[in-house]
Amino acid sequence: MVPTASLRQVAISCHDFLPGWLHLNLPMILETTAQSIVTAPVLLCGISAGGQRNRTLRFPCRVTQGHPTRVGRLCVRLYTWRVLRPVLRLILDLWEGGVMFSPAWRMIARKYHGVEFGEYSYSPGLKPGDLPPGTVVGRFCSIASGFVVLRRNHPIEWASQHPFFYRQTLGACESDRLEPVECNPLEIGHDVWIGANVIILPKCKRIGNGAVIGAGSVVTKDVPDFAIVAGNPARVIRWRFPSEVQEVIAASHWWTEPLEKILQHRAVFTGPLDPERLKRFRTVFPPKAGGSSERTL
Ligand SMILES: CC(C)(COP(=O)(O)OP(=O)(O)OC[C@H]1O[C@@H](n2cnc3c(N)ncnc32)[C@H](O)[C@@H]1OP(=O)(O)O)[C@@H](O)C(=O)NCCC(=O)NCCS
Repeated sequence: MVPTASLRQVAISCHDFLPGWLHLNLPMILETTAQSIVTAPVLLCGISAGGQRNRTLRFPCRVTQGHPTRVGRLCVRLYTWRVLRPVLRLILDLWEGGVMFSPAWRMIARKYHGVEFGEYSYSPGLKPGDLPPGTVVGRFCSIASGFVVLRRNHPIEWASQHPFFYRQTLGACESDRLEPVECNPLEIGHDVWIGANVIILPKCKRIGNGAVIGAGSVVTKDVPDFAIVAGNPARVIRWRFPSEVQEVIAASHWWTEPLEKILQHRAVFTGPLDPERLKRFRTVFPPKAGGSSERTL
């Protein structure tokens, strides 16, 4: 992920020396150049390792054990220095495969921002601190850009709802007067797909396993497992599977299995879940004890 904000800062500080057209385009030029510098070596590594599939399989070897690389561990330590963060995120993109694969990215999210982000979940451009503290994201989630999670309202019943009157750091009150956002954490299940530009409001506390949230939705309450919700306010438009199929998938906990096993049996995932595939799915991923609420990130 390229630190667009920092690049804009560079552009702004160069403002006085640049001709008009370059001044307007500099952030974009810098961003594109940085992106090429970052992606080219990754792509080259992928090609030299035998193409896209091998590249995808190469990163998880580090991730499934949950241990960051040495470089990753160093990044976690250096992350205390805010000024280094954009560079460290770039390094983690290159070295550990970015948000989808990087254990160090997950350690940073947990240690510095109080966010649990499950393995193989990803979201383009997401930074470890973009989700509010207390958020838990399951495994194998796909989150499109523009995802906003809101965890509390301003005090609408007070005479004024301005932060002067509830935020201690602004100097007008001696302690924070609203509950911290961690008191209202959002839980996102496993294998959830969240479309572009979704907003989650404070009363939604859980998005169920296997759920889908349509693009542009405003989610005001909990989303059940395997529901497809959309709109403003988001409503269930249909279910991904009939209830008996939902039960088979929920009971299997396939998302807690090692990636190697999942990929070895990828044929059950690569096509519609017809009766034949469902039968094979049940054989490969039989029901597990513990119920679908068990979490393994
Ligand atoms: C939610 C979604 C998956 C549903 O797809 P689908 O099952 O093919 O749904 P349909 O297009 O048949 O729509 C069914 C109904 O829901 C409505 N609907 C679908 N998506 C909607 C959305 N995002 N917001 C509001 N209403 C939506 C349709 O208008 C339709 O309503 P109708 O029955 O009154 O005509 C899809 O519409 C969507 O939003 N995808 C997200 C794409 C995206 O964000 N990609 C990002 C990159 S990964």
